[in-house]
Amino acid sequence: MKTSNLLFCTLFAASTMFAQSGEELFNNYCSSCHATAVGTNESGGEVTNIYEAPYVKDVVTKLKNETKSKETFIAFIKDYIEKPDKRKSLYGKKAIKNFGLMPSLKGVMSDSDAVGLADYLYHKYDK
Ligand code: HEC
Repeated sequence: MKTSNLLFCTLFAASTMFAQSGEELFNNYCSSCHATAVGTNESGGEVTNIYEAPYVKDVVTKLKNETKSKETFIAFIKDYIEKPDKRKSLYGKKAIKNFGLMPSLKGVMSDSDAVGLADYLYHKYDK
């Protein structure tokens, strides 16, 4: 898994020529900040959570509640990837205070990829 991620990063330019699944898009462009990784800190070797952004499951759950419909959810994600803005935030100002505003990922993926990614996230935690 690690190796294929690395390969995707290295071949970033080439990979944009292929359609990527929602999962691949998430792993390539979002998981570096939104996944919660458990690691050890450098000083004590103590096990801690290392993350740069709210955990994706919390974000998805909260946004599904806030947006009510799948269409609104997808439109919100697509827009936020390009134009994060504290006035638009549905997840909440507290996250912005703790982590800073999410940087814009404008131009990183096509509109249809962004929709595919949002669709994947919408169903990621379905039971
Ligand atoms: C460089 C780190 C970083 C990357 C990469 C990143 N995010 Fe974020 N994201 C953040 C931070 C920090 C926040 C919390 C602050 C905020 O809401 O703007 C956040 C918040 C969010 C929110 C909640 C928005 C709100 O406030 O209502 C969504 C949705 C989101 N990210 C989706 C994504 C998606 C989808 C990707 C991949 C395409 C992605 N993020 C990639 C850092 C990142």
